Amino acid sequence: MIAPSILSADFARLSEEMAAVGGPGQGADWLHVDVMDAHFVPNLTLGLPVVESLLHSTDTPLDCHLMIDDPDRWAPGYAEAGAHNVTVHVEAAEDPVALAKNLHAAGSNAGLSIKPNTPLDPYTELLRHYDTLLIMSVEPGFGGQKFITDVLDKVRSARRMVDTGHLNLLVEIDGGINTDTIEQAAEAGVDCFVAGSAVYGAEDPTGAVERLRSQAAAHGPR
Ligand code: DX5
Ligand code: ZN
Repeated sequence: MIAPSILSADFARLSEEMAAVGGPGQGADWLHVDVMDAHFVPNLTLGLPVVESLLHSTDTPLDCHLMIDDPDRWAPGYAEAGAHNVTVHVEAAEDPVALAKNLHAAGSNAGLSIKPNTPLDPYTELLRHYDTLLIMSVEPGFGGQKFITDVLDKVRSARRMVDTGHLNLLVEIDGGINTDTIEQAAEAGVDCFVAGSAVYGAEDPTGAVERLRSQAAAHGPR
């Protein structure tokens, strides 16, 4: 699956920019929405009122990536609004298991994200409550950064845990995914690829999504 990140889109034309990457069938499987609060990360982007408007402007499922403090308090609102998947950071969450349950009760899937230097092992048990694991391959905060290859070890162990039935979730990767890096991520076992600058920086964003998809499909283990 490919999830274009609208962080690299023109924020004055978000509705058109969402349409520019297509939708299920041809183009984006999900649209990835980066919510940043200038506390958990140094950058500030958009919040719930904008996400509510985006939900009214597209049929493509929204994958909301909350890079915010106190997600226990704020994340369920995105689920109630109608986001398909709401991802919180394990470094910020107070009670990730309760939070996953609250997200499910509010009607969305639950995602857990880990920063590049956060290990995976301490969280394998609580990941049983989650539907996606978002492995950051750049420091969260900004688009257009260089892919950190080291995180692929975490992708491989997550893939093993899913393939052996210990976990039941989608492995998602975020940061620096482009035509040069997507093949190694696919080989390591990623299910869902977030791509911002590689899609919105392209002349034909839907074409860029389809190119990434065929590269990933040709190199994925499944
Ligand atoms: C970074 C965001 C990413 C970002 C990826 O903190 O979480 O989703 O949009 O952008 P690229 O694909 O340009 O690295
Ligand atoms: Zn993101």
